[in-house]
Amino acid sequence: MRVALIGHGYWGPNLARNFGAIPGVRLARVCERDAERSALAQHLYPWAQVDRDSEASIGAADVDAVAIATPLATHFELARAALLAGKHVMLEKPITATSAQARELIAIAQHERRVLMVDHPFVYGAAVAHLHAMVARGEIGALLHYDSDRANLGPFHGEDDVIWDLAVHDLSILDRLTASQPARVSAIGAGANAARDPQIAHLLLHYDDGLLAHLHLSWLSPVKQRRVTLAGTRALVFYDEVQPDEKLRVYAGAAGADGGPGTPGAGQADALGPNERRSSYRLGDMVSPRLAVHEPLHEVCSHFAACVRDGAQPLTDGAAGLRTVLVLEAAARSLARGGDAVQVEAV
Ligand SMILES: NC(=O)c1ccc[n+]([C@@H]2O[C@H](COP(=O)([O-])OP(=O)(O)OC[C@H]3O[C@@H](n4cnc5c(N)ncnc54)[C@H](O)[C@@H]3O)[C@@H](O)[C@H]2O)c1
Repeated sequence: MRVALIGHGYWGPNLARNFGAIPGVRLARVCERDAERSALAQHLYPWAQVDRDSEASIGAADVDAVAIATPLATHFELARAALLAGKHVMLEKPITATSAQARELIAIAQHERRVLMVDHPFVYGAAVAHLHAMVARGEIGALLHYDSDRANLGPFHGEDDVIWDLAVHDLSILDRLTASQPARVSAIGAGANAARDPQIAHLLLHYDDGLLAHLHLSWLSPVKQRRVTLAGTRALVFYDEVQPDEKLRVYAGAAGADGGPGTPGAGQADALGPNERRSSYRLGDMVSPRLAVHEPLHEVCSHFAACVRDGAQPLTDGAAGLRTVLVLEAAARSLARGGDAVQVEAV
């Protein structure tokens, strides 16, 4: 598979490196508008043809697939042109700036019988894969609450607000774990232009089955945080992506601390007198599962290559990208209305 990479800014080099490490995949072209960044690309990949004009890369006969790592506002036009030129397309997150654009790309990809994939990297990480398997086996029980802290300083690149930059990661994790869309979203923000492009935001996602998700997203944190607490009826999970070891900690026996209904030890708690009640923050064992060590982006690029080779539907296909954008659009509407809960448009 011969890949053309469009955009060699902050994230593009990571894609180039990972595509370069996959057997059977060759980085054939890199397209970068900026003179300095394109010179760097030529230095790093001397075998590749480096273009400044996207039409040359997209239209090239020696290219099978196009990976797009340019700013969000450019995603749709570049992806549309590539699909219409008969290329398979992988887009960086978020897939497009509007749901209408995502729908159009899905339709073109279907018509042209090309693979359309979006890079939702956390979905391909070992921790989320493990969580997904636990949810599928019923080990976490019914999901009650998803609470995320996703914060860092920046960005010093890009042009989107903090919700479009960071919420995508949680939305893609939730999409993988719940296989459902939130019904309503409310969003509030802080920052210079808080109602339009906040630097800090809180999102509440209300699901029809009772799950409530809270996302705290910040570009104004001196400390990088990627933490999720997941509460289910059978287990509590603490997931810290920043930790090199013990990214996941699973605590058994979740609901009803102090021997509440339906939990182990409930009878014992009732047998105690009023002054003998003990507080317990741990009901069961804590397990930190051993996770495979691999770079999620390597899995993303390998998965895309495999889907192109086999004509398969990616895990994070155009529809997954669309579902994410529909929630982001609802969050933007809520933000503009001062945090009102607004409906998420149906897929
Ligand atoms: N998957 C992730 O975790 C992750 C992380 C960071 C960024 N991203 C995404 O990657 C994309 C790029 O983000 P970035 O931070 O690298 O931005 P960036 O601004 O650092 O880089 C974008 C590059 O694209 C170039 N460019 C723009 N239009 C072009 C065109 N038409 N033809 C050729 N080159 C063009 C720019 O010159 C720039 O060098 C965004 O969609 C962003 O959301 C994803």
